[in-house]
Amino acid sequence: MSQLQSSALARVKPSATLAATAKARELKRQGRDVIGLGAGEPDFDTPDNIKAAAIAAIQRGETKYTDVDGLPELKAAVVAKFARENGLTYGTDQIHVAPGGKAVIYNSLVATLSPGDEVIVPAPYWVSYPDMVLLAGGEPRVVIGHEADGFKLKPEALEAAITPRTKWLILNSPSNPTGAAYSADELKALAGVLARHPHVWVMTDDMYEHLIYGDFEYTTIAQVAPELYDRTLTVNGVSKAYAMTGWRIGYAGGPKPLIDLMRKVAGQTTSNPSSISQWAAVEALNGPQDFIAERGRAFERRRDLVVSMLNQATGVRCPNPEGAFYVYPSVEGLIGKTTPEGTVIDGDETFATALLEAEGVAVVHGAAFGLSPYFRISYATSNEVLEEACSRIQRFAASLK
Ligand SMILES: Cc1ncc(COP(=O)(O)O)c(C=O)c1O
Repeated sequence: MSQLQSSALARVKPSATLAATAKARELKRQGRDVIGLGAGEPDFDTPDNIKAAAIAAIQRGETKYTDVDGLPELKAAVVAKFARENGLTYGTDQIHVAPGGKAVIYNSLVATLSPGDEVIVPAPYWVSYPDMVLLAGGEPRVVIGHEADGFKLKPEALEAAITPRTKWLILNSPSNPTGAAYSADELKALAGVLARHPHVWVMTDDMYEHLIYGDFEYTTIAQVAPELYDRTLTVNGVSKAYAMTGWRIGYAGGPKPLIDLMRKVAGQTTSNPSSISQWAAVEALNGPQDFIAERGRAFERRRDLVVSMLNQATGVRCPNPEGAFYVYPSVEGLIGKTTPEGTVIDGDETFATALLEAEGVAVVHGAAFGLSPYFRISYATSNEVLEEACSRIQRFAASLK
């Protein structure tokens, strides 16, 4: 029998975050007391006004196909959002709506990558970027953003990574998995490099835009470097900001020729995202926004709690991130130590496995995000759970000899 898996899919790894979640679920099923800190979704519920808009859409009979890349009403809401929050001017013919930010990103890569085309992916990266590039037939070029540089891509490193085959640079601010966010000056410095390479497009994944803490001022690259507007795709969505992960609505604004190609991909694959979810997203973007700041304050308190408790764990060093709901602590100080059962901690994957076995805390090891020795914690859960989880991590770290 010929091989079932396609050569394109054979280049792709299964999602490490999903694997960690599945392992934690399996231990729970066996009766273990497990705290899962792997999932990347807000624990808050979708606000009631958004749910009501979806119910009203069903009752009005808005249950048919819509335009492939989004209802005119949703595109208009997205146009207004980009103008209001990001100072970006798009026409409705420059907007793409798809089933989640994930689908938006995938459609853009499938629409533009030819075999051998390269995509610069700064690490630590969201697990899906390199594999989506591979699936779309391109070549990810991973460039490390070191902890000393706030896990951010330096202009010199960007310059060194660009080749004649570079098609895209993917930026993600605030970042999954580190929570790092780029300041306007840092974005301008990257834009300065890109100005010298007019063949490189920029995809900015702004999914965590509204989860920003302290006095950090959020900006996106097309806003601070308008000279890049004609080659920037600004990706966003309602999943994280409005606690709507299950509704599957993402969107992007960009140059019309690119948006036309993305519509061509969607037209032969998914067609439109759920009509009902689209009406819910119209309400999310046009309705009251004040709960976002309130929830942001709750996330900020959780960040402070987790950063402080992890920095009290022996051998763990936890940077204080600007945004999102993740921290990315280093376990450098634990490498080479041994658990009471005799396992030597030789890297972040062994650390994560031993932590899960000893204390029932599920985290994702840093190698999955392209930079070791670290691990990622999602703190989108209650203070009580976070306190318990961090106490267990402290106890585990103290037990290593
Ligand atoms: C950085 C980043 N981009 C995109 C997504 C995908 O969002 P969606 O659920 O809208 O597909 C996620 C979800 O985890 C993410 O962390």
